[in-house]
Amino acid sequence: MSDDYNFLKACWCQPVDRVPVWLMRQAGRYLPQYKAVRAQGGGTFLDLCKDPARAAEVTIQPIDILGADAAILFSDILTPIEPMGLELDFVPGPVFANPVRTAADVEALVVPEDMAQAVPYVPEIIKRLRAAFTGRVPLIGFGGAPFTLACYMVEGKGSKDFAALKQMMYADFPLYDALMQKITEMDRRYLNMQIQAGAQAIQIFDTWGGLLAPHDFERYILPYVKQLIDGLERDGIPVIYFVKNGGTMLELVKAAGSDVIGLDWHVNLGKARDILGDDVAVQGNLDPTVLYAPKDYIEKEVRRILAENDDRPGFIFNLGHGILPTVPPENAIFMVDCVHRLSQK
Ligand code: CP3
Repeated sequence: MSDDYNFLKACWCQPVDRVPVWLMRQAGRYLPQYKAVRAQGGGTFLDLCKDPARAAEVTIQPIDILGADAAILFSDILTPIEPMGLELDFVPGPVFANPVRTAADVEALVVPEDMAQAVPYVPEIIKRLRAAFTGRVPLIGFGGAPFTLACYMVEGKGSKDFAALKQMMYADFPLYDALMQKITEMDRRYLNMQIQAGAQAIQIFDTWGGLLAPHDFERYILPYVKQLIDGLERDGIPVIYFVKNGGTMLELVKAAGSDVIGLDWHVNLGKARDILGDDVAVQGNLDPTVLYAPKDYIEKEVRRILAENDDRPGFIFNLGHGILPTVPPENAIFMVDCVHRLSQK
């Protein structure tokens, strides 16, 4: 029974026998086993995302190696942007050859009717994983939030401030709105397709949402992400909304309507919970660089976060952002063990 998973119980603020833990970007380059599978065939990162057998294999690795309580689909937030008509490459950061800048560019963007057909490898990976995991761990599907996807689509690559999108947002709101509407609708179809294929929870990554001031977040991000979450076939499927640097506007992040709120390490988890109230679960929030520290320091930090949560139901332990590629795997294994050992009832 899927309800028996501590991860899903925590998403619904139900009691658990120990705190569930997983790590954002838990399948990745810090694992030699990931690098070995990634090197097979000599292909690119995108080739790996599109190869269901290998993508499923690297999704399972952190379950076997770390003992994580949930698996996350191996893919990238930008893979569903390719069928919208943008040419994507990773070098290793993402690059779009034809970024979206003009009304004609927005007009040309395709919102595929059938996302299962547009990115067939995604439902295929999900189906393989559900078959592989029966009764073991739940599977999280994910997507980028509309604003974070727009950041890359308009800038064409990573950036510190994503000024090209912010310029469009302030100077030509109708164009910004038309772009965001198209992305939001693609995202809604994409995430519902993942649910239909078997994803048991959905995480929405808004890595760049914290670039905006609270009043701008309310105007330029919240309506779209709320529309997205409202449009998901959520019956029994918890939705996690993670806004990096969202700690100064938690009420607005909550207003998006997710079941779980992802927190980064710039907030005190206990104080964030006081603000958010007891009707929403939280996930976080260890600074990913703590995994470079000696083991006794890692243990002390896990204890501190567990103490901040103070046994409140609805808590999923995670990092405050993705695990870094040079972290020693044994430290990640130790961290997961600390969470389990120190929270066991
Ligand atoms: O969490 C997991 O284990 C699932 C896989 C996953 C990846 N990307 C694989 C990946 C997830 C959930 C993502 C999300 C993602 N991708 C986000 C949101 C979360 C975050 O970290 O902020 C963003 C902004 C992206 C875009 C992206 N993809 C960037 C900026 C980069 C380059 C930086 C980097 O880490 O190399 C990627 C590449 C990427 N996505 C890799 C992996 C494993 C590395 C590619 C490789 O193996 O060479």
